[in-house]
Amino acid sequence: MDQDTPSVDLLDCAPTVSTFYEEIVTGLRRTPPRLPCKYFYDQRGSQLFDQICEQDEYYLTDADLEIMRRYAPQMAEQIGPGVMLVEYGSGSSSKTRLLLDHLQDAVAYVPVDISRAHLQQTANTLSAAYRHIEILPVCADFTQPFELPTASQKPTHAAVFFPGSTIGNFPPDEVRRLLNQIATLCGSGGGLLIGIDLKKDVATLEAAYNDQQGVTAEFNLNLLERINRELEADFQPDHFRHDATYNDDQGRIEMYLVSQRAQSVSIGEETFEFDQGDRICTEYSHKYTVAEFAEIAAGVGLALRRQWTDRQNLFAVLHFARMN
Ligand code: AVI
Repeated sequence: MDQDTPSVDLLDCAPTVSTFYEEIVTGLRRTPPRLPCKYFYDQRGSQLFDQICEQDEYYLTDADLEIMRRYAPQMAEQIGPGVMLVEYGSGSSSKTRLLLDHLQDAVAYVPVDISRAHLQQTANTLSAAYRHIEILPVCADFTQPFELPTASQKPTHAAVFFPGSTIGNFPPDEVRRLLNQIATLCGSGGGLLIGIDLKKDVATLEAAYNDQQGVTAEFNLNLLERINRELEADFQPDHFRHDATYNDDQGRIEMYLVSQRAQSVSIGEETFEFDQGDRICTEYSHKYTVAEFAEIAAGVGLALRRQWTDRQNLFAVLHFARMN
């Protein structure tokens, strides 16, 4: 770290290695087997995800950025003055800067991320760049309840920023639970600014998750490498193949690792058998219409106040306010 950049204190609520082990083993015991997609993002997985975002087929990044660049001033105005802005899955907070640049008298910015090293670095950089906003990083899995830090100055309200359509990676019952948790966390007067990937033609969707360069395939298979490394497992990643297809009934891309032969894999004391063609589900990426998503949010007391889309109508950023 730069010697002149002060280190910001970090609130640590990160999951432990035993949680990782439990979730992987429990997921593999299910029929059909599932691995939680939040574990894609170790250091290598995060690098690969950044590369996915640069692929021509992965339209989501450009569409999202186009909206943020164009409408950040309107979004900041919609969020209102004196806010404590809480970002779910902050990463390098690049889109947040667009918001922070326009927010009026923001009191605090709370980046929440599972990757401690990345979070610390981002918090230090932001704290040097935005001296008038208190930066209060929280290392946590935001799908689980976590503590919000107390800002030295009292905010008028809290707003959650959940960019990049990560919400699409949760099944509908989890979306409801998570939105409910957000509504509770924000409290009365609170809001939510969230990105969703919109429904569109199947060819565009499937191309985005099957890029020509094979980066998404590598990202998917890296999950097995990570499990091997961190949980002393013996997956042979080249005995699995990446598969991503759109399920029209469910409105989602489904990503799988398909076993290429009969094989057995050990993780600690546990052994798992796979036949040729057996599929491990690694990710869902749900696509919504604005109306579909607004209906789910209304069910937990969040009312749609404003929406912004890109010129091609591929992606949307929505602002919700707590109804009471
Ligand atoms: C993080 N999330 C929104 C990405 C998506 O599009 O669902 C993750 C991803 N998986 C494969 N490519 C990108």
